[in-house]
Amino acid sequence: MSTLLNIDWRSLPNAPPTGTMLCTAQDLPFGATVEFSFAAAPALPAFRLIVHLHDGGINAYVNQCPHHWLPMNRSDGQFVKWSEHQLMCAHHSAVFDLARSGICLMGPCQGSNLIAVPVRAVDGEVVIVAGD
Ligand code: FES
Repeated sequence: MSTLLNIDWRSLPNAPPTGTMLCTAQDLPFGATVEFSFAAAPALPAFRLIVHLHDGGINAYVNQCPHHWLPMNRSDGQFVKWSEHQLMCAHHSAVFDLARSGICLMGPCQGSNLIAVPVRAVDGEVVIVAGD
């Protein structure tokens, strides 16, 4: 069983600044996983972000599976859903709850978690915020 990760997303290469607008709230379909990529420094790996709208609000995570730190999708924007709010990593089938802090529910990194990025809907726009 893995342990919970507490990595600061702001320390990752190409992390966008707080205040970055991702999309309008209307652009975010309920239950879908939408990916954004940031690569201001092209020599470094892109910062890939997934955003998910659910009953309790909007959650965002770095698109890196804590098993081998790979993106959880094999093709741009194409994710494997396990259930309405659960995503399966395309590599070794770890399942993450996007509506509940990105915890890994089953698979090789069970008990670990995705790296959360705080986002909020502000005046109809989904924005990265400073967080707690
Ligand atoms: S890289 Fe995601 S389950 Fe192995």
